[in-house]
Amino acid sequence: MSYNLLKGKRGIIFGALDENSIAWKTAERVHQEGGTFVLTNAPIAMRMGQIKALAEKTGSEIIPADATSMEDLENLVLKSMEILGGKIDFVLHSIGMSVNVRKGNHYTNENYDYTMKGLDVSALSFHKVMQTAMKQDAMNDWGSIVALTYIAAQRVFPDYNDMADNKSYLESIARSFGYHYGIAKKVRVNTISQSPTMTTAGSGVKGFNEFINYSEEMSPLGNASALACADYCISLFSDLTKYVTMQNLFHDGGFSNTGVTQSVIEKFSD
Ligand SMILES: NC(=O)c1ccc[n+]([C@@H]2O[C@H](COP(=O)([O-])OP(=O)(O)OC[C@H]3O[C@@H](n4cnc5c(N)ncnc54)[C@H](O)[C@@H]3O)[C@@H](O)[C@H]2O)c1
Repeated sequence: MSYNLLKGKRGIIFGALDENSIAWKTAERVHQEGGTFVLTNAPIAMRMGQIKALAEKTGSEIIPADATSMEDLENLVLKSMEILGGKIDFVLHSIGMSVNVRKGNHYTNENYDYTMKGLDVSALSFHKVMQTAMKQDAMNDWGSIVALTYIAAQRVFPDYNDMADNKSYLESIARSFGYHYGIAKKVRVNTISQSPTMTTAGSGVKGFNEFINYSEEMSPLGNASALACADYCISLFSDLTKYVTMQNLFHDGGFSNTGVTQSVIEKFSD
């Protein structure tokens, strides 16, 4: 079902790797809702991924950009305005990566070069994107910027490793930059704290299959899917949520406010 909620709106979508990606589903939904956008991803992901198929399907252009490179970001924002024919109304930052997780380093045995790399990709890149957009005066008034996060920023999920710290930093950037962008341009900035979702980034976390089942049982509504997350992104990009800013918004079927569910309790009965 579509409502033309994003008719006339232009955006940049980071992070569509394959059809499981949250960014991929969001791009499809934005297209259905009448929005236009540029797709971007790291040059390496461009070679591995299937982003070209998504671009064809949605009539979009692709501009490669490493989200940690100011040069790439400056080029991306400038070219996006040219391609889309005007300033930007929405940005999706759907990027995450931990080298320590990839290499199997325990949280208590981090390689700090890896830690810094993961922090740059997963969190600082969000600041870099917004700083670049602000310097180029690329956002329209009442624009909306969204990044994706996980509840490990607030509570310990041991195997989430240093991504937990990256997500805390990401959420803090959303609050701080949201203040300044609000004052300067009435641009809103939020993070969506999404349920565990079967994607390339998600399944890189140790014990993910067991964990996703646990989360399903601990959420009154069950885990939110990538498509449901895309729907939530649409609502935040639309004019229906103009006064929501500087928030971390849980999109998790109720997991974050649940202490225990009956079905989990029953697993412990004799
Ligand atoms: N999957 C989950 O369980 C889950 C839950 C909560 C939040 N999230 C968050 O959702 C976001 C999207 O992840 P996903 O689950 O769709 O997985 P995904 O693997 O499909 O997407 C991650 C994307 O980050 C991109 N990326 C990595 N390094 C980059 C760089 N240097 N520059 C630009 N892009 C880069 C990858 O190419 C990829 O497209 C991430 O922030 C992730 O942490 C995921």
